[in-house]
Amino acid sequence: MKKLIIGNWKMYPSKLKDAQEKFKAIKKIAGTFRNVQTVVCPPLVYISELKKLTTGYRCVLGSQNAWFEKEGAFTGEVSLSMLASIGVQYVIVGHSERRAMGETDELVNKKVLAGIKEKMTVVLCVGERERDQDGEYMRFISEQIKDALHGVQKKELKQIVIAYEPIWAIGKHADHPASIDDALEVTILIKKTLADMFGKDGAIISILYGGSVDAKNAWEFLLKSQVDGLLVGRASLDPKVFGEILESAEKIKPSK
Ligand code: PGA
Repeated sequence: MKKLIIGNWKMYPSKLKDAQEKFKAIKKIAGTFRNVQTVVCPPLVYISELKKLTTGYRCVLGSQNAWFEKEGAFTGEVSLSMLASIGVQYVIVGHSERRAMGETDELVNKKVLAGIKEKMTVVLCVGERERDQDGEYMRFISEQIKDALHGVQKKELKQIVIAYEPIWAIGKHADHPASIDDALEVTILIKKTLADMFGKDGAIISILYGGSVDAKNAWEFLLKSQVDGLLVGRASLDPKVFGEILESAEKIKPSK
């Protein structure tokens, strides 16, 4: 299977022109890699414009969020159905920055189910705020997954990707990046949780790591923490650095 590398641009950059330039540069590099599926998730307002620049399947667009109802009186929201109708294939759901704004496990679950219905690939983010000695964070992550995937059918699992993003390792205020072992431990936990929920069918779900990924550590995360890809924040806004991350992924032999 191809490595899945997703760039989460968050609320950057502030000008369409910059977004177009960054996307063009990323697309150019990504287009040369056959072992990597690249997904760029720009601010929602740029999606239609950047969509005009896409050609082929190696570099596609995703959304950082969306609402689960098809349409209705939800001022300021954009629905999964609308995104699907313009050809957006990926959606990030339950990012910790959205959870911090009040998104509950129940709402995350509704978005997961709606994304599946729209035939999109749902990138579900999970991760603990901090680690404790007693391993409570492991139970927390497991519960997040169980709540988010409640009601998902086995045949729909190929539309799910889980991104492990420890909150303490995300963004420029991160305490410190997660170690390879931190990521590996949780990849194994996620696999076990999925096996408990779905038996061997759970293994079809791709697992990503995210949190302070850069051009230096990407290769090690991909090689040593049993992940199928990466969710990249800051480093995805610099086409050169993001290109280096894609190149690391390209060099690793496809698995599965
Ligand atoms: P970061 O963000 O790579 O800037 O730490 C990752 C994310 O929030 O998805």
